Amino acid sequence: ADEPLVLGIETSCDETGVGIVRGHTLLANAIASSVEEHARFGGVVPEVASRAHLEAMTPTVERALDTAGVKLADIDAVAVTAGPGLAGALLVGVAAAKAYALGLGVPLYGVNHLAAHVAVDQLEHGPLPRPCIALLVSGGHSSLLLVPDVAREVISLGSTVDDAAGEAFDKVARVLGLPFPGGPHIDRAAREGSGLAIAFPRGKYDDGTLDFSFSGLKTAVARWVEARQAAGESIHVPDVAASFQEAVVDVLTRKALDACRRYDVRDLLIGGGVAANSRLRALAQERCDAAGVRLRVPRPGLCTDNGAMVATLGADLVRAGAPPSALDIPADSSLP
Ligand code: KG4
Ligand code: ZN
Repeated sequence: ADEPLVLGIETSCDETGVGIVRGHTLLANAIASSVEEHARFGGVVPEVASRAHLEAMTPTVERALDTAGVKLADIDAVAVTAGPGLAGALLVGVAAAKAYALGLGVPLYGVNHLAAHVAVDQLEHGPLPRPCIALLVSGGHSSLLLVPDVAREVISLGSTVDDAAGEAFDKVARVLGLPFPGGPHIDRAAREGSGLAIAFPRGKYDDGTLDFSFSGLKTAVARWVEARQAAGESIHVPDVAASFQEAVVDVLTRKALDACRRYDVRDLLIGGGVAANSRLRALAQERCDAAGVRLRVPRPGLCTDNGAMVATLGADLVRAGAPPSALDIPADSSLP
C-alpha cells in the first residue's frame, strides 16, 4: 500500500484509455474506442476522434474506478499522454487530467506516449532491464529507442521517414479489399499464404541507419496488384498478404537486432499495435534466440493504446521523485 495509486489517461489517437495502477500492479484498464466510426473513412478522422473522446471520458473514468474498486479520492497522482498524437484528441485527455489533478489536489504528470508504450511491459514482466532497446510499431509510429531508464531517459535511435508500419498494413489491406484496421486481417490471411511467394522491396534494408521506410513497399504492392488486375488475372490474397508482411517484419526485426548489437544491449522490447502480429513475434523470437537477446512483448491488450501504460509511467515518475508537470502544460502533438 506504499505504492502510489495512479490514474492514467490516454487520448492520443482513437482510443479513450483510462488505467489505474498501484505501482506496477494493474487494477483497471478501461477503453472506449471510436475505431468503428473511422472504418468507413479507411483511417482515423481527427475531428471524429476528438468528439468521441469528449463523450467517452467521464464514463470511462467511472468504469475504471469501478473495476479497480477504488474511489476518486484515493488517487495519489494523475498521468496523461501529453504527446505526440492528434492535437485535438490529446487536448481532451490533457484537459480532463488537469481537472482531476486540480480537483483532487494531487500531482499531474504529462508523459510521452512512446515512453508509456515501453513502461507498460512492467505490468506483465516486471522491472525493465536497464538499458533495453524498444521497437515501437503502431498505426502512428515506427521507432527504435534506447531506454537507459524509462522514467528519466529515452533516446530515439531511428524512426520511419514516411509511413508507420501499421499504416502500411492498413493501406495494403485496403488494396486487397480487407476491412480497416487491416493489420489483423493481413495477419490472418497471411497464414494461408507464403511469405516467399512475391519478392517485395525492403526499404532502407542496408542503408546503415536505424530508420525505416514503408511507403515504397506499400506502392510496390499496389502496383503489383493493379498490374495483375489490369491483365485480368486473379490474385491470391494470402500470398500477397504474407509476402508484404514478410517484407515488413524482416526489416523491423533486422533493424531492432542491429540496434541491440550496436549498443551492446541484451534486452529487446516490442510494443505498439503491430506487436500483435504473429509473424513479427515469431521472427523476432527466432532472431533474438540466435543473437542471445532476451525478448519481451506485452500481451496484445497492453500493446495497443491504453490508459494503463500512461498510469504505469506515472507510477515510475512518482517513484523516481520526478517533478510534477505544471497545471498549464500544453498538449504537444509533435512531442519528440
Ligand atoms: O497501437 P495501436 O492500437 O494504435 C496506434 O496506431 O497508435 O496500433 C494500431 C495499428 C493499426 O495500424 C493496426 O492495423 C495494427 O496496429 N495492427 C496489426 C495487428 N494488429 C493491429 N498489424 C499487423 N498485425 C496485427 N496482428
Ligand atoms: Zn501508440
